[in-house]
Amino acid sequence: MVESRPLGIKPEQYFSESWFSAEQSLLENTLWNFAGLVRDVAGDNDFLTVPIGSKSVILQNFKGEIRAFDNVCAHRFSRIRACERGNGLLRCPYHSWVYNSEGVPVSIPSNENAFGFDAVARAQHSLKRWRVEQCGELLFVCADHAARNLRSFLGDMFEELEALSNCLGNEMDVFSFEYEANWKICVENTLDEYHATFVHPTTFRPMLSGGFTYGYDRLLSKVEASVTDETQKSWGRLEKFFAARPLKTDTYFHYAVFPLTTLASTFGVNFSLQTFVPQSPRRTLFKTRLFLSKFEDGRLPPAGVVKALGQSAAEFNRTVFLEDKFICEQVQLGLQQNSGLTGALGHYEQRISHFHQALDRIHAGAWGARTSG
Ligand code: FES
Ligand SMILES: [Fe+2]
Repeated sequence: MVESRPLGIKPEQYFSESWFSAEQSLLENTLWNFAGLVRDVAGDNDFLTVPIGSKSVILQNFKGEIRAFDNVCAHRFSRIRACERGNGLLRCPYHSWVYNSEGVPVSIPSNENAFGFDAVARAQHSLKRWRVEQCGELLFVCADHAARNLRSFLGDMFEELEALSNCLGNEMDVFSFEYEANWKICVENTLDEYHATFVHPTTFRPMLSGGFTYGYDRLLSKVEASVTDETQKSWGRLEKFFAARPLKTDTYFHYAVFPLTTLASTFGVNFSLQTFVPQSPRRTLFKTRLFLSKFEDGRLPPAGVVKALGQSAAEFNRTVFLEDKFICEQVQLGLQQNSGLTGALGHYEQRISHFHQALDRIHAGAWGARTSG
């Protein structure tokens, strides 16, 4: 017999300032956070700036080594990077201090007359360093230097995510917008198979057949969904063009990388990578990147087929995301009414229960990257 559960977390957790700042603090101090792709900082001196909680963090390539620091100059605290991506020495725009791969200021204009810093004093004025680890193409950062490594954080799904990320080929679309909703509503919506056919009548409804296989490890979850015969038939006509893709499946699958990132794919042909960035208790920035698969031995499908697939996948995603935005904003409004109802989570919302348990664990310090899993 199938059992439903009450919602598991309280309505105020979706709009209170104090819950929000506790969650931001977990992102900034405790968790491994997805930050970008290796390709985003592939060349010497390439950099990427990412928001983690209330902080801004720089990832920079130093001759092949990717390092991360607080985006705050150790001199008088200017932001070092004002833009999201670029290339150049790690130089502060205010008084031109230049930092090396250890975050130590190696060039301080007029040092002798202005500061007289020796090597020890320079080292004392280093940037605040973050740990960087990678899972295939996925880069993660963590502020806690005593925390267990990324492999422990991702658990059994580390290898799967590594393999998936290594399938990412050319980027086909980038899209971002803001939800007027708490970040947990947005994430929960991605973990909800139940809504897919009602909220997405022209995309997921004709595609999904209703067979879902769930998987969990530690803070992460995944689902694999079978597709309708109709979808299978139309895909069958195209499959030959994509035969050289490394991951051949006939399903849709979706991974939730706790807490803010998801990676989904249809048939292993295209991959959609989403990140939610909490902005305030009631506002969340959403960023998505769509990738074509890589192809073995460079056996690319014909350009016209790739173009058509890219357009149709981008259109599919944008339709889905805007429908999700509407419904998430309705949920935010309903939660704020604080009606005293307990709510219910059914079988097709089981990943939300798991997400709530994961949240409980990290709030209680039970995950604490240092404890065993
Ligand atoms: S604030 Fe950065 S060099 Fe002065
Ligand atoms: Fe949705």
